[in-house]
Amino acid sequence: MQTNLAIQISPFGNPDQALKQAQQLSQTYQIPLSTECHPPPKIQLGWHQTAKEPTPKLALFQPESGPVFIDFVQGKKAHRRQFGGGKGQPLVRAMGKIKHRLPQIIDATAGMGGDSFVLASLGFNVIMLERSRAVSALLEDALLRGKSSATTDTTNPELLDILNRLQLIHIDSTLFLQAPPLETPHIEVVYLDPMYPEKKKKAASKKEMNILQNLVGPDQDSSILLQAALQAASYRVVVKRPKHAPVIQLDNPNIIPTTQINSPNTRYDIYSIKALSSKIRL
Ligand SMILES: C[S@@+](CC[C@H](N)C(=O)[O-])C[C@H]1O[C@@H](n2cnc3c(N)ncnc32)[C@H](O)[C@@H]1O
Repeated sequence: MQTNLAIQISPFGNPDQALKQAQQLSQTYQIPLSTECHPPPKIQLGWHQTAKEPTPKLALFQPESGPVFIDFVQGKKAHRRQFGGGKGQPLVRAMGKIKHRLPQIIDATAGMGGDSFVLASLGFNVIMLERSRAVSALLEDALLRGKSSATTDTTNPELLDILNRLQLIHIDSTLFLQAPPLETPHIEVVYLDPMYPEKKKKAASKKEMNILQNLVGPDQDSSILLQAALQAASYRVVVKRPKHAPVIQLDNPNIIPTTQINSPNTRYDIYSIKALSSKIRL
């Protein structure tokens, strides 16, 4: 079987259990085991574990860099939560407020969960949608690990509440937004941060972004996703772009951002549904 991704059976612990765990992951996300692939793919999904950090973490491995995993408990995401500028940061201001309360967010390009985690840290409820099987698996593993750590470690009392504000769904967001499942809360804000073709995009972590580029490539269908987001959201759609990137082109050239928020490397294009409704809902 030829594929660009496969699951490595963990070399740690009991071999039978490791095989079972890999087979389970393979079934859930429809990713083959590396032992079934000839030649073995360059990118592999497997378990990372060290003597210093003995809890196994699901991670992506590629030859040119170390393991890439998601960690909501410590490292960059925890640091950004504590020192990242709170409610004043551009990402948070871009989400707006509805009658003095925080809107419900759909993060339609969840990726490594960095932006969703910042928003949940500041009280937003976020539904994270991610279409890549490997990235969804990393998110699921990080949420489970984070919740388990938060229930045992009393030094981090807010973490469990933050993680409980995040819900993950592995799906293509365009499909989700075109026909949201019945139980979906009212969709107020849709947030999009599609992969930009340029490799230089300033990312929270270059290693993370590099493996994402190699795994999922640039998102060629951003305008279809933006169109679906504009139809689904009741309050606003927010699109994160590199600072000098053009706005996402839509079939209707009159639909352009109603306002923009700039930060040193990033721009948030805000599409207010109220202001654009006559152009969106024809
Ligand atoms: C640039 S990354 C997002 C990074 C994220 N904001 C973060 O903080 O980690 C873009 C992600 O969106 C996902 N994506 C792009 N289009 C999508 C779609 N239509 N449905 C679901 N996920 C999508 C890609 O698979 C990729 O993981």
